Amino acid sequence: MKFEVFFSPAAVDELGMRGRNVVIIDVLRATTTICTALRNGAREIIPAPDIENATKILANLSSDARLLGGERQGKKIDGFDLGNSPAEYLPEKVSGKSIIFTTTNGAGAIYKCRYAATALVASFVNMSAIVQTVVEIGGTWTILCSGRQGAFSVEDATCAGMIISEVQALTDVDTEDAGLTAVILYKSFKRSILAMMKKSMHGKYLISIGFEGDLALCSDVDSVPVVPVVSGVSVKLKYPVPDPPPKTVQTT
Ligand code: MLT
Repeated sequence: MKFEVFFSPAAVDELGMRGRNVVIIDVLRATTTICTALRNGAREIIPAPDIENATKILANLSSDARLLGGERQGKKIDGFDLGNSPAEYLPEKVSGKSIIFTTTNGAGAIYKCRYAATALVASFVNMSAIVQTVVEIGGTWTILCSGRQGAFSVEDATCAGMIISEVQALTDVDTEDAGLTAVILYKSFKRSILAMMKKSMHGKYLISIGFEGDLALCSDVDSVPVVPVVSGVSVKLKYPVPDPPPKTVQTT
């Protein structure tokens, strides 16, 4: 299998992503929150590139079945129902709902992949489910890290490295310099993913605005074993939740 890694969505556009098999990552916190919302019964997540688009989509959905979720500067947007903390997306709030979702980096990265052949939404919380699905589909994959404000983020790159490393434990893998770098990062942080997040720029920012608890949720490997797939304009649980695979994390 082959992997190409982009450390930021700034380097890609919709046409460049067209026809590819893509895994999109925004560990802190958009893709972790999407996994949590879908696991807790949300019908779908509709990513919107900005607040204006989100409110336009809202007008077209029946009011009892829709919610607005997302953040700016990490905080809930005025007039929205939910922010971007996975802890908010509880079954009693999200079950059966279509959630229109706009965030600073992650939602835009997902939006850029709407013409991909396959686009999976990944984080540490659904690692094994994503690895299993990627291996089942096989072939060449692009891993798109959402990064932070158009730049690199260590938590997304480490998660990309974990995907490649876990696939490598199951089959032959070829990757380029960005992929090799991501694997090296994962190897140096794999025993301290939460500590790495606490030192990261976005982790420190989230702690400063009162979301330290989210870092523990976002670093909890395999706690939300779902495979969210971009399907038309929304993200849904298209693939069934796979059986837990044999543990493949390397210990040396
Ligand atoms: C984003 O999409 O930029 C993030 O998920 C920001 C956040 O942590 O809320």
